[in-house]
Amino acid sequence: MQKTIKSFIAILLAGSPVCLSAQSSVPVYLDETKPIEQRVEDALSRMTLEEKVAMCHAQSKFSSRGIPRLGIPDNWMSDGPHGIRAEVFWDEWDQAGWTNDSCTAFPALTCLAASWNPEMSALYGKSIGEEARYRNKNVLLGPGVNIYRTPLNGRNFEYMGEDPYLSSRMVIPYIQGVQSNGVAACVKHFALNNQETNRHTVNVNIDDRTLYEIYLPAFKAAVQEGKAWAIMGAYNKYKGQWCGQNQYLLNDILRGEWGFDGVVVSDWGGINNTRQAIYNGLDMEFGSWTDGLSEGTSDAYSNYYLATPFLKLLKSGEVKEEEVDKKVRNILRLVFRTTMNTKRPWGSFGTPEHGAAGRKIAEEGIVLLKNEQNLLPIDLTKAKKILVVGENAVKVMTIGGGSSSLKAKYEISPQEGIKQRIGNQAEVLFARGYAGEKSKAQDGLQVGQDLTDNRSEDELIAEACNLAKDADYVLFIGGLNKNDGQDSEGNDRSGLGLPYNQDKVIGALAKTNKNLVVINISGNAVAMPWVNEVPAIVQAWYLGSEAGHAIASILTGDVNPSGKLPFTFPVRLEDNGAHKLGDYPGKEEETYREGIFVGYRWIDKEKIKPLFSFGHGLSYTTFTYGKVTADKKEMTPEQTLSLRVKVKNTGNRKGAETVQLYIHDDKSSLPRPVKELKGFKKVFLEPGEEQEVVFTVDKKALSFFDPAKHDWIAEPGTFEAWVGASSTDIKSKITFKLNSL
Ligand code: BGC
Repeated sequence: MQKTIKSFIAILLAGSPVCLSAQSSVPVYLDETKPIEQRVEDALSRMTLEEKVAMCHAQSKFSSRGIPRLGIPDNWMSDGPHGIRAEVFWDEWDQAGWTNDSCTAFPALTCLAASWNPEMSALYGKSIGEEARYRNKNVLLGPGVNIYRTPLNGRNFEYMGEDPYLSSRMVIPYIQGVQSNGVAACVKHFALNNQETNRHTVNVNIDDRTLYEIYLPAFKAAVQEGKAWAIMGAYNKYKGQWCGQNQYLLNDILRGEWGFDGVVVSDWGGINNTRQAIYNGLDMEFGSWTDGLSEGTSDAYSNYYLATPFLKLLKSGEVKEEEVDKKVRNILRLVFRTTMNTKRPWGSFGTPEHGAAGRKIAEEGIVLLKNEQNLLPIDLTKAKKILVVGENAVKVMTIGGGSSSLKAKYEISPQEGIKQRIGNQAEVLFARGYAGEKSKAQDGLQVGQDLTDNRSEDELIAEACNLAKDADYVLFIGGLNKNDGQDSEGNDRSGLGLPYNQDKVIGALAKTNKNLVVINISGNAVAMPWVNEVPAIVQAWYLGSEAGHAIASILTGDVNPSGKLPFTFPVRLEDNGAHKLGDYPGKEEETYREGIFVGYRWIDKEKIKPLFSFGHGLSYTTFTYGKVTADKKEMTPEQTLSLRVKVKNTGNRKGAETVQLYIHDDKSSLPRPVKELKGFKKVFLEPGEEQEVVFTVDKKALSFFDPAKHDWIAEPGTFEAWVGASSTDIKSKITFKLNSL
């Protein structure tokens, strides 16, 4: 009886029209005390072929069908990864015009990665998961963990940087946080979607070692440690097959090697062939282009590769029912983990708590790149006049950029944040400095801001310089934006430089006022030909709803900056391996000739001086490092090595430092990077406080992927542990040996 009541509640919660009489026994699939696999088999046994096929493809832009007859709800997806996307019409990308779907915009994932703090990841995941849950989405289309291979990739802002270890550690808590709400995280874009230009046509040629060492680890961590319930196949091809229908990636690696038991979702419109979609590991097809009318089927979605064409093959016996069963099992698992989990929380949406979470993440992710003569923080006891220059001080940044575009409940611009913070302590003036192109509406959502300025470049510069002359501080807030060809999905940037003549504006301001701070807002590295003329530089990202507040708290020193770069800023594009050697942006074929030498691995190998290094980030206080010590000089592959290093805050402000551990292999049978990140720890220190950081080195940290053995191997020999404040600021080293067993 108790079970009957429980199952009845389950059905009610699932919004099903099914009615159970008080006497009816509880179907196994509704009994949450039963093992999930048993429930899956039971549900499957009750389904018709048509019902099974219906679950494998979209029924609208963002949903797929459940089985109302059985009380199995529809699946509802939402982008991701920075906030919950506004409702769109059933069959269009355009906004549906709801009035209750304005979300909290969280900082971009580059910012999260720059916090180097897994706790921020957990907070992010939990908060965005609550928003998704409240809006009744059971799949969040994010996070993204494609590796930062080129600074031109328009979508880097949605990812977690250039290093496989950093992105692996940071993606896990995000997933766990999202899924604690009974919402699946759908990790994307699996795999090798490292550029937007030609993303639908390009076939990536990559050697196995590079694939396993650089491009797969974050996905593997997401699946095996984060236990992601969903993954999205990328648009591009690998080994000649589109990634959403890819034998090697989906069947062999994801399911075969990693044991993934969640659902594989296609990217929207990423499926191009029925047979591959059937056999190569895809479960749910979304966003395919449809031609419902000429095919004469009941609705456009029936024309999906996994819809009528699939059903026909199943009915004719050409394809065995087992093929659809495999997919439906994965989908049922998703449903039981999410919508049919009666214990999942209710979620919350657009709350002050979520705003505060976004602000905290933003404040931890902003990176102080340069700060000569401690120009920052702004000294409000002395400043009388502060000049803010630049379009990004006022431009709406939550709208645009493609599928991660948001209808934010609010967005505090940098100018507004600075004004609010400074209040009447000083005069805050604004000059435009430059004018970019008009913001594009995204999916029918108008930016609602007209930044048209018809003055000439020279007039804009003259105005800014005039006001700058007697300002105590000049804050230039520029960078990129979410327009096409910048930080935006669908196409890449055309070069490393700043657009709209900003270099000239910055150059002119630097000549006019020596107290110039450049705040670069972007999701990508940019060239800074003026770097030596500007005393203070801050890397701010797309920071979401609380952008202005977070920037103001860093500039004024309310919060001590503690972000570190999750990717290298090269001086020139040619200082990046993909651009020096690769076939970028390859139309049909593209070979990753730089191999494992991505980001700082390339910089180290070629002995290039970067503009700003991977892992770099300053603070308003100072830290000193002790000598790193180890608990042993030699280890076997079965042992671990304990490394200890003391870090002290020697300044007079509290602050946080991210201590980084890199491993150097003295000699190996295959070429290895000079060093690789294998540990990091962010420590929060009061003035004068010292903490000991402990790292554990195991065999995994010493291994490389041997393509001949198709396995990770740790070769006996001498290694070095390098501990530092960035990839180029190594404070101390220690040598140890790995012996064979
Ligand atoms: C993007 C995905 C996104 C999907 C749905 C695609 O264009 O590549 O990341 O989740 O659209 O909006």
